[in-house]
Amino acid sequence: MAASNPFAVFTEFLPTDWQQTLYQTQQNGKAVFSLAHKNIQGQVRQFLNAAPDPQVNKLSPELLNSLTIARDQLLAKDWQDAEAGIYPKSLLFDDDWLSFVQYYPQVWFDLGAVWDKIRNQTHQQFDPEIDLSGYPDYYLQNFHHQTDGYLGELSANLYDLQVDLLFNGTSDAMRRRILKLIKQKLGADGDRQASRLTILDVACGTGRTLKFLAASFPQASLHGIDLSPTYLRKAQQNLTGISKIFPQLSQGNAEALPYQSNWFDLITNIYLLHELPTPVRQTVLVECFRVLKPGGILMVMDSIQVKDRPEWEPMLENFPQLFHEPYYRHYINDDILTHLAKAGFVDVEERPHCFSKSWLAVKPA
Ligand SMILES: C[S@@+](CC[C@H](N)C(=O)[O-])C[C@H]1O[C@@H](n2cnc3c(N)ncnc32)[C@H](O)[C@@H]1O
Repeated sequence: MAASNPFAVFTEFLPTDWQQTLYQTQQNGKAVFSLAHKNIQGQVRQFLNAAPDPQVNKLSPELLNSLTIARDQLLAKDWQDAEAGIYPKSLLFDDDWLSFVQYYPQVWFDLGAVWDKIRNQTHQQFDPEIDLSGYPDYYLQNFHHQTDGYLGELSANLYDLQVDLLFNGTSDAMRRRILKLIKQKLGADGDRQASRLTILDVACGTGRTLKFLAASFPQASLHGIDLSPTYLRKAQQNLTGISKIFPQLSQGNAEALPYQSNWFDLITNIYLLHELPTPVRQTVLVECFRVLKPGGILMVMDSIQVKDRPEWEPMLENFPQLFHEPYYRHYINDDILTHLAKAGFVDVEERPHCFSKSWLAVKPA
């Protein structure tokens, strides 16, 4: 079962050119909506004098134009991969519109608390009811100014929607870029692809990547781990009914994965590295290496870095000014290839995908 929403299932019966037009229309609609949302939100903030204007670089018309080109290329690849059967086409239409209707107003209701944090420069605020014991200090942050950081119900409910607004509707298209690369890598070792793979998504959040993995590798045994109990509950809800084999979700720290060594064929890790201090980035990669089987594959995806698109540096610098991201500034210049090599990985392939990039690495057999 690839898609969980009736509209996505319905699109499977449409002629191909209709599907393509529908996909482009949907993505253009998301982009217009996201840009309008951010614009109006900024104007309301200014009108109410709710928080100081962020100190951001002005983006040149050339830079904005290159962003549009990169986005169009990303969406074209997403369509082509679905068309080629890398993943079911219904995934392209699998947005949860009921959740959107339910949670979009809450994004606005939460803005008072967000502006409060920006005004008072408070980035470690949690509801006193939340038990903060056992979490690493670096984690106890209101990342993106989220209410209760990663530890609240509201944060878990709004996360997918907010990430998609941030990326102008391209977040899932970027996450899906990993699937073709993984399949190509496994293709060199066809037996493994055909047999039941054991896959772990580290920092699985609300389960978006697990959903795409389940659709692309229906026979695989899927596992997800995250530090946040509320995000895991959301993942459980999002993943119910998506495949015959329900992913096993566990709460745990990626720095000390609660799995035996040499266990997984594939580990994915999406949008975690930029939220970790540098030494922790290294520890997490070492842990991934430990629990991968010899010959196993690690697929990491995160934000693009300065070296990939130096001309985008003004935009990358704006991100931590607009959202609370304490480790991002260092991340965009960090040498992940060296971290991977130090952890023991070989054959590393590094690729940009619009606002994101991926590293595919192998544990030597
Ligand atoms: C930006 S979100 C990415 C979530 C998901 N991978 C996605 O694609 O949307 C970062 C996630 O990493 C989790 N996280 C942060 N530090 C962690 C750690 N040390 N161990 C496990 N999970 C962690 C957070 O709880 C959160 O769910």
